[in-house]
Amino acid sequence: MRLENKVALITGAGSGIGREAALLFAREGASVVVAEVADDAGKQTVAEIEKAGGRAHFVHADVSRGDDVRAMVAEAEKTYGQLTVLFNNAGVFPDADGSVLDTDEETWDFVLRVNLKGIFLGCKYGIPALLRAGGGSIVNTASFVALMGAATPQIAYTASKGGVLALTREIAIEFARRGIRVNALCPGPVDTPLLQELFRDPERRKRRIVHIPMGRLARADEVAKAALFLASDESSYINGAAFTVDGGITAAYTTPE
Ligand SMILES: NC(=O)c1ccc[n+]([C@@H]2O[C@H](COP(=O)([O-])OP(=O)(O)OC[C@H]3O[C@@H](n4cnc5c(N)ncnc54)[C@H](O)[C@@H]3O)[C@@H](O)[C@H]2O)c1
Repeated sequence: MRLENKVALITGAGSGIGREAALLFAREGASVVVAEVADDAGKQTVAEIEKAGGRAHFVHADVSRGDDVRAMVAEAEKTYGQLTVLFNNAGVFPDADGSVLDTDEETWDFVLRVNLKGIFLGCKYGIPALLRAGGGSIVNTASFVALMGAATPQIAYTASKGGVLALTREIAIEFARRGIRVNALCPGPVDTPLLQELFRDPERRKRRIVHIPMGRLARADEVAKAALFLASDESSYINGAAFTVDGGITAAYTTPE
């Protein structure tokens, strides 16, 4: 098993990529701490893991609140004795996030608070725990929009993910000689509730898919598998990377017919 003896904390593990990663990490032998602001969804993930014979523990946490993040890390150490994998996955993508001209300050602040400050806090309180465990792996979820601009704007989201990438590189360098690897996961569009909101409009869906060389969205489990690789010791020399899982989007100048 690829995560035997690991303790993995996953934020936003009640839905989409985080949920798939929680189920997969548990199947690969990890004890999983499911951190969620949506309690019912988080508890559901834990129930599914336990039903399949895995180990999981729910903790309520809003990643944008320092007290919650400090407490979720403490809970992981208390429950399983240590923390060795931290998957900072939670993120938001509200409808009101659009053009720089239309996006209001409240939306900007909300998105930056969850998507960027949430990862800062995860690292701030998670790294001391990883150091106490003798090292570990951090996976921070950015996006392909951290690498490329989109004509369909989502200015706060894009800025937050660019910040995640920059923050990840710097933390990766600072802790490289102390046994901690930190990588940014950059998914392309994934078929999860986060995107389904946006894609209720068929025109917007078509406009996105036309730019994907593979001609389809990713499935959440395909992104979870990349997170598993980065979390496990198989990626032992990968550090500070922007790890794209995007069906070729960032490689493309144009797409096939
Ligand atoms: N779906 C995509 O197309 C896509 C593409 C690139 C990157 N991502 C990123 O992947 C990550 C997961 O996205 P997803 O598509 O699985 O979304 P999702 O909406 O299916 O799941 C996100 C989960 O995060 C939780 N969450 C939201 N705010 C939180 C907070 N403050 N504290 C704790 N938990 C919180 C939600 O309750 C939800 O369960 C996000 O960071 C997202 O930006 C998604």
